[in-house]
Amino acid sequence: MITTKMSLDLKNEGILATAIHPGWVKTDMGGPTASIDTVKSVTGCMSVMEKLHGEEGTGKFYHGVTGDTIGW
Ligand SMILES: NC(=O)c1ccc[n+]([C@@H]2O[C@H](COP(=O)([O-])OP(=O)(O)OC[C@H]3O[C@@H](n4cnc5c(N)ncnc54)[C@H](OP(=O)(O)O)[C@@H]3O)[C@@H](O)[C@H]2O)c1
Repeated sequence: MITTKMSLDLKNEGILATAIHPGWVKTDMGGPTASIDTVKSVTGCMSVMEKLHGEEGTGKFYHGVTGDTIGW
């Protein structure tokens, strides 16, 4: 809801607001059995961010590894 509200509030200023799932990552929180390392997670999230633009790039929830949108 915060992402959706921010995307609407900031639309006229040309600022995109989108949530990105980092995947299940090997960190203190994700633990050693998680499926991907931090490099793969961050590389994927950066790749998603690079492609965001216009209406399609705001108010959404993307998976950082697959690049797919996740339904709210
Ligand atoms: N790992 C996953 O699979 C996964 C999946 C989905 C979403 N996420 C989200 O990604 C974010 C980061 O997760 P992570 O896996 O990187 O977790 P993490 O390895 O536990 O790291 C959390 C980081 O937050 C810092 N931190 C915690 N409380 C803080 C506070 N009060 N003030 C300032 N810094 C604080 C910690 O600092 P210290 O090291 O100094 O304690 C640490 O650097 C979280 O919001 C998590 O919900 C993670």
